[in-house]
Amino acid sequence: MEKSGYTEAGIQRVFKNYIPPFFMFDPNAYLEKKREELKNVTGRAIVAASGGVDSTVCAFLSHSILEDVTAVFIDDGLMREKEPEQVAHLFREGGIEVTIIPAQEEFFTDLKGKTDPEEKRRAFRNTFYKVLGRTLKDMQAEYLIQGTIAADIKETQGGIKTQHNILTQIGIDPGQYGLQIIEPLKDIYKHEVRAVGKALGLPESLWNRIAFPALRLACRVVGEVTPRRVEMVREATAIVEEELLTFNPFQVLAVLLEDRATGMVEGTRKFGNIIALRCVESTDALTAQPTELPWETLHQVVERITTEIPEVIKVVYDITPKPPSTIEYI
Ligand code: XMP
Repeated sequence: MEKSGYTEAGIQRVFKNYIPPFFMFDPNAYLEKKREELKNVTGRAIVAASGGVDSTVCAFLSHSILEDVTAVFIDDGLMREKEPEQVAHLFREGGIEVTIIPAQEEFFTDLKGKTDPEEKRRAFRNTFYKVLGRTLKDMQAEYLIQGTIAADIKETQGGIKTQHNILTQIGIDPGQYGLQIIEPLKDIYKHEVRAVGKALGLPESLWNRIAFPALRLACRVVGEVTPRRVEMVREATAIVEEELLTFNPFQVLAVLLEDRATGMVEGTRKFGNIIALRCVESTDALTAQPTELPWETLHQVVERITTEIPEVIKVVYDITPKPPSTIEYI
């Protein structure tokens, strides 16, 4: 019998979204440490920008320390609507030049026919580094800087999933792609990356933007990744982001499942696609809880997806926490 009115369930409810203050982590001391670490790096470096928080903070951190840094954005055909233009704009505003490298066909060719999640991840990784290796050579750069963070390494080494950006840590030599890799953020977690972005003086829209995997929409297509299947997820993503970002979740996503389901459209039976929605709260992406979305909001999202994307016949809201589920679907 609890004496006060505070039950364990009540405390958990109140503190579910509580983000601990950064008293254990001093971003300014961290920046000092990075300046020291990177001071001997000379020669041209290229940052692989994805538009996500980690690579964006990593790019601006490197740019604040190194002499010759430029960014490349690989257009793999797996991005959200208008993403290449938005990322390029964001970087240019912050004083970093971005070159967009068109590689859509190469990615879709290499992903063709692959349905196993790990096989897809390996195919993506291979194409990604092949294109980057070529780009580095073309741009006469010596180093590739990438925004790998501690969670990526931990999850890959822990055998949960092969994050596309992990090479050395699992015994792959970046030299085979002609690369020397620098990973300035590999010892910190997402909330610390955000604190570093803030300490760098970046606008909140940069360090507090919603997390988005560098594997992009390929994480959100279960089964074969084809241009049309990616297009469906892209359209659904635009809808869920429009409707759900106001709830300020850690991540919000739409996933195209491999299964199909029967529905009725204008009195006729239709066997169509299924989209799963995921909206989660987290601080470090290692654990996550589903967002308790209002019923009316969910109705509105379902209505929009099924009318605006006619191939979709069913929409489900996934409320599985991490663990046991991961945030993404592959
Ligand atoms: P999961 O799905 O493992 O995701 O719960 C944890 C966090 O990592 C992101 N994620 C990735 N990020 N490359 C990335 O850069 C990847 O291959 C990848 N897979 C997952 C995911 O969006 C979440 O924030």
